[in-house]
Amino acid sequence: MKEHNLADLEAAFNEKLKQDIRIEPKDWMPDAYRKTLIRQISQHAHSEIVGMLPEGNWITRAPNLRRKAVLLAKVQDEAGHGQYLYSAMETLGASREESIDDMHTGKAKYSSIFNYPTLTWADMGAVGWLVDGAAIMNQVPLCRTSYGPYARAMVRICKEESFHQRQGYEIMCTLMKGSEEQKAMAQDALNRFWWPALMMFGPSDADSTHTQQSIDWKIKRHTNDELRQMFVDATVPQAELIGLTIPDKDLKWNEERGHYDFGEINWDEFWQVVSGNGPCNAERIATRLKAKEDGMWVREAAMAHAEKKKAKKAS
Ligand SMILES: [Fe+2]
Ligand SMILES: [Fe+2]
Repeated sequence: MKEHNLADLEAAFNEKLKQDIRIEPKDWMPDAYRKTLIRQISQHAHSEIVGMLPEGNWITRAPNLRRKAVLLAKVQDEAGHGQYLYSAMETLGASREESIDDMHTGKAKYSSIFNYPTLTWADMGAVGWLVDGAAIMNQVPLCRTSYGPYARAMVRICKEESFHQRQGYEIMCTLMKGSEEQKAMAQDALNRFWWPALMMFGPSDADSTHTQQSIDWKIKRHTNDELRQMFVDATVPQAELIGLTIPDKDLKWNEERGHYDFGEINWDEFWQVVSGNGPCNAERIATRLKAKEDGMWVREAAMAHAEKKKAKKAS
């Protein structure tokens, strides 16, 4: 068998990237590429799982049976997204258990948006429309990401995210056709979620440490600021169509650029929430820890059953 030296392996890896051939779990890959993917996919998986909490909060209070069934299906989808992503992460040799523990201790992050509370039913509209809408902007290009298992997981996830976005927008449309109180409730939800939704794309390109390397590796296809702009351009007309006002006095169509200009994001708030000081950080982690403890007996029973089966087979 031919001995491969590091330079050959690197050259083969770079050639695959160049030709848009997916990198698969058994392929050689640089350590830093593997680490970056583990970080990104695990953060993504944690976001799906923690993202179930703000909406789970409203399942028992949905205004009718149809809304309840739709919201329940949506929240269950997010659990599925977490499963696909943790599985994709495991193909890189990372441990699911450890990774989840890292989230619980704050070592691993999840999307800052889920540290905001969901105060009214209209928040279910705003979250689906804006948060899942922003997720789609981020995730559609990830269907072409260079790591095979991640790209394939994203294809199905994106189909479901588009249903999530539409169910949220439909709630907003319905409220905006309702009473003055309902319209005010929808506007209030937009006011609270607009800026945190823009923050979901991460720090501006100038302050983002990972972007360029991730683009060279074809893990990311667009920068944070490009994605944020795409989101603003797509969402502003949707708000205007149903009579909602984006809470940004600097928002203005720029004819020359062919894009909306928008106001400065409060980056202090962003870093505060990312570093654990958002309105619901402690509550979210406490809920996750309780779920882990409450479910421990199920995992222990499953392990004991698997051991017994293995012993039976061996005897
Ligand atoms: Fe999701
Ligand atoms: Fe979603």
